[in-house]
Parts: sequence; structure tokens; C-alpha cells
Amino acid sequence: MTANTQSTSPRQGYSVTHGARLIVAASLLLASLATAQSAPRYAKADAIKRGEMLAKENCSSCHAIGIKGDSPNPKSPPFRTLSQRYQLEALEEALGEGITMGHGEANMPHFIFEPDDIGDLISYLKKINRR
Ligand code: HEC
Repeated sequence: MTANTQSTSPRQGYSVTHGARLIVAASLLLASLATAQSAPRYAKADAIKRGEMLAKENCSSCHAIGIKGDSPNPKSPPFRTLSQRYQLEALEEALGEGITMGHGEANMPHFIFEPDDIGDLISYLKKINRR
């Protein structure tokens, strides 16, 4: 009689622990998925700042990139005027594919940006075009 009770309880103990471990693993996975989706990589202000840096490094030799001033290359539209001719969202796509539009005779380097960089650049463009 005593032997019988002892032989079943270890099995029960095992399966409870095992089940609990699976639940912990599953909820850890869910928690990390939730964090990955909801937490922004960095704050919006940082995105704008990075976008400005990118514009300065890659575009400012021809385009005026600030809220005032003329473009060094007079054929290049100042960035603060781009939204008069473009949906900035459409620009996002063009930048992702490597911008060639309108750059025909400008000896313009062929840019292909990472999606994160494009997002930053667009954030910056949105900021200087909102006036
Ligand atoms: C070597 C000079 C040069 C550089 C560097 C340059 N551009 Fe341009 N860009 C031009 C010129 C010139 C035009 C005007 C072309 C035209 O109107 O035909 C232009 C036009 C544009 C236009 C408007 C296109 C149109 O059809 O009106 C956008 C958008 C643009 N550039 C984005 C950028 C971005 C973003 C960068 C940096 C990643 C950049 N450019 C770097 C010379 C340059």
C-alpha cells in the first residue's frame, strides 16, 4: 500500500514541474516579442538628429539642408522646399530604391540607404518642411 502511493507521486511531481517550465519559457518569449514591437529603437528627437547628420554628410555639398540658406549647387532644391513638390512619404520609397529621380545630370552619387537611415532622414525633412 505504501509502495503504491510512493510510485505515483514522483511522476506527478515531474509533470507539474515540466509544465511550469514550459509556461515560463512561453511567457518569456511573449514578453520579448512584446518589447521588440512596442519599444522604439530610440526617441524621435534622436531620429531627427541622426537624419540631419545623414543629410549633412551625404547631401549638403549640393543641397541647402537647413531652415535657411541657399544650396551650394544652385540647381539643387533646398531640402526645406521638398514638400512643395513631393509627398515626403513618397520620397521615403525613392530613397529606399536608391534615389535617381531628378538627379540625371548632376553627377549625383547613387544612394541606397538602410530603412532605419531613411526613416531618420524623413523625420528630419518633415521637421524642416513644417513651416
Ligand atoms: C552632387 C550634388 C548632389 C548631391 C550630393 C545630392 N543631390 Fe539631390 N539634387 C541635386 C540636383 C542638381 C537636383 C535637381 C535635379 C533636377 O531638378 O533635375 C537634386 C534634386 C533632388 C531632389 C528633388 C528631385 C526632383 O526631381 O526635383 C531630391 C528629393 C534630392 N535631390 C534628394 C537628395 C538627397 C536625399 C541627397 C543626399 C542623400 C541628395 N539629394 C544629394 C544634386 C545633388
